[in-house]
Amino acid sequence: MPIASAHATLRDATQRGYAVGHFNLNHMESMRAYLLGAEEARSPVILAVSRGPAAYMGGYRTVLTTVEGFMGYLGITVPVVLHVDHGSYDEALAGLDAGFKSVMFDGSALPFEENLDKAARLVERCRQHGATLECEVGSIGGEEDGVTGRGELADLEQCRRLAALGIDMLAAGIGNVHGQYPAGWRGLDFERLADVAHATQGTPLVLHGGSGVPEEMVRRAIELGVRKVNVNTECLVAFTAAVRRYVEAGRDREGKGYLPQALLADGLEAAKRVAMEKMALFGSAGKA
Ligand code: 13P
Repeated sequence: MPIASAHATLRDATQRGYAVGHFNLNHMESMRAYLLGAEEARSPVILAVSRGPAAYMGGYRTVLTTVEGFMGYLGITVPVVLHVDHGSYDEALAGLDAGFKSVMFDGSALPFEENLDKAARLVERCRQHGATLECEVGSIGGEEDGVTGRGELADLEQCRRLAALGIDMLAAGIGNVHGQYPAGWRGLDFERLADVAHATQGTPLVLHGGSGVPEEMVRRAIELGVRKVNVNTECLVAFTAAVRRYVEAGRDREGKGYLPQALLADGLEAAKRVAMEKMALFGSAGKA
């Protein structure tokens, strides 16, 4: 099955009231982990790549051809969307030129009129490419890939104007934070989320910072119109902890335990397990 845009997946998620998991690619093991996890869970999946990991893995084109290669090699049959995460305007265009069928333009740090203007131009470009576009308003708190968000709640009129452009997904700040949630975090602002859903009239909403959000909050967010939940940190922490246990147990010194595919196997399995748990929580498991 070729890499798809998110159109069909978001339509199905909206009709059947679930959310699709967005998992960030950081290295080759994450590609394997999430593709295998999605296949085993019979779940659609969104694989996303942000600036730093894209550079680490050889650029958007290399990521795309590697994911395609893995999909054929592993016999993946579930829908897979490959998505640029938190792209600048130029990065979103570069993703489209490289063959991505889904991109995020994160203009949340720009003056709103500039965010809106660039989003409007990208709506046109994405249409020409048959691709889906995610935009952001308000900002997600915490730090991701060198970008620090102020954690502002999204302004409803700004949400309405962005959605009215015909974008495919809207990430709106509702008290969510990238990375680990700080002690004393007040939780997601469901009142604001409900207002955003009302103002944007059915535009699929995106919950960034999906790691560590309590399960009942995730379910409530999906009930209110979240159709894509982004998860990165939780999978990475599980990956690293499993690799650490392997090394601390001295297994890298047994036989050929030093081979990368042995050293990283438990990490891959741990990341895959977290992803599959999220697919079950989001309701996407069994939908493909
Ligand atoms: P976490 O790392 O907090 O899961 O957030 C991921 C994310 O929102 C990617 O855009």
